[in-house]
Amino acid sequence: MEKRLIIAIDGPAASGKSTTARLLARRLGYVYLDTGAMYRACALQLLRDGISLEDLPAIEAMLKDLDIRVEISGEENRILLGTEDVSQAIRANEISQLASSVSALPAVRHRMVELQREMASAGGFILDGRDIGTYVFPNADLKIFLTAAPEIRAHRRWLELKNKGVEKDLDAILAEIKERDHNDSSRSLAPLAVAEDAIVLDNSQLTIDQQVESLHGLVLQTLEAK
Ligand code: CDP
Ligand code: CDP
Repeated sequence: MEKRLIIAIDGPAASGKSTTARLLARRLGYVYLDTGAMYRACALQLLRDGISLEDLPAIEAMLKDLDIRVEISGEENRILLGTEDVSQAIRANEISQLASSVSALPAVRHRMVELQREMASAGGFILDGRDIGTYVFPNADLKIFLTAAPEIRAHRRWLELKNKGVEKDLDAILAEIKERDHNDSSRSLAPLAVAEDAIVLDNSQLTIDQQVESLHGLVLQTLEAK
């Protein structure tokens, strides 16, 4: 039987990770796991519980009780906190910024990484995030680092919001993206970084289809080499 790979897609905000991972997973019959959504759900829980980021004992207690589940149905990841589906709630803009701060806390990362390894180690998974190829699965079969110029990523987010009927200043989005890039790259534990053996793909000038096509080619090469 064909080997079922573990594919890591890392990169900064709005570089196209989730769109690409979802489409590639569909093409390969693999499962897509959105690890960013897990950090977002943690951030939402902290916000709802009114826990400050400095209150480490309260955060550890929260993590112990945290009932976070990723339901994988087809290409969609539904994120549940207890019995509540929070898939939409975690996409709020304030959660993006909070998730970036929450994800720098070692206790949070340890718990999330443990869950990610439990879910995906059998293979047949595409995971996207910041530290998949460097930390969560350093032995992943294929590691991709997606990136694009910050201005292009900001414009993509702006367009995404506009299509949802949300008008937001492009410069404000660019500033938030830069701030998140900085936070994610400068934290001490598992920062956003290019793994030594990752293939870097700058998609500033690529359409989504072109990008998925080129990754699919890399997957086929990887399978042939196995
Ligand atoms: O989709 P977008 O790039 O805007 O963000 P996301 O992938 O949903 O991740 C939200 C935040 O979670 C990021 O800014 C990171 O700080 C954090 N994250 C992380 O630290 N490690 C991961 N593997 C995934 C996300
Ligand atoms: O998951 P991540 O935050 O890295 O990015 P995403 O949510 O997949 O992509 C952000 C936006 O950029 C989406 O609206 C994509 O449709 C768009 N995109 C694009 O226009 N061209 C690409 N080559 C990749 C993504």
